[in-house]
Amino acid sequence: MQFFLDTALLSEIEEAAALGLLDGVTTNPSLMAKAGIQDFDAHYRAIAKLTPGPVSAEVISTTYTDMVAEARHLSNLASNIVVKIPFIPDGVKALRTLREEGIPTNCTLIFSPVQALIAAKAGATYVSPFIGRLDDIGHEGMEIIRQIRQIFDNYGFETKILAASIRHPLHVLQSALEGADVATMPYSVLRQLFNHPLTDKGLAQFLADYQKLHARS
Ligand code: G3P
Repeated sequence: MQFFLDTALLSEIEEAAALGLLDGVTTNPSLMAKAGIQDFDAHYRAIAKLTPGPVSAEVISTTYTDMVAEARHLSNLASNIVVKIPFIPDGVKALRTLREEGIPTNCTLIFSPVQALIAAKAGATYVSPFIGRLDDIGHEGMEIIRQIRQIFDNYGFETKILAASIRHPLHVLQSALEGADVATMPYSVLRQLFNHPLTDKGLAQFLADYQKLHARS
């Protein structure tokens, strides 16, 4: 399973890369705004340079013609840019055109397995089901990962399942168990994956035992 970072902060991207755990990055207009980015193009180039894998950059347009034009522009910023397209009818049309042009895409705002099926039929490279936002409204977010996996396997779709809107380590575990290809997570969740009280306790014990031995000799 690949780990992507869901962020627009270069410092977080650098830290995840230094850990050797950065397979890619996903951004969205909200994350760019939160990071206070004004020059989106320059920032996407900077992220792409730091990232060894795909970087999702989202279109702002909502019509077919404008989305395709914006996607071509974004795709030219760096060789590892994947264009994020919202799941709306014009977006699905754009996915097909971009597929024909060889521009990789990530279909975002997926909240049902049938939306994922449609995006895969249109040739999306990735689909992004939003687990946390489904949980927020009382649905079981993980259920759609399970169902999308089954649908894609039933029909041999190569579209990758990118579990998004991940809020905690359990989402990462469940996504892995259900066969998501990628989990994109905030940096805070990536760091939480390291935590286990028995690891801390065990290390403290090993060091204490070493110190005791050392003190005697
Ligand atoms: O980038 C898309 C997704 O991961 C957003 O997550 O936490 O805003 O629901 P969130």
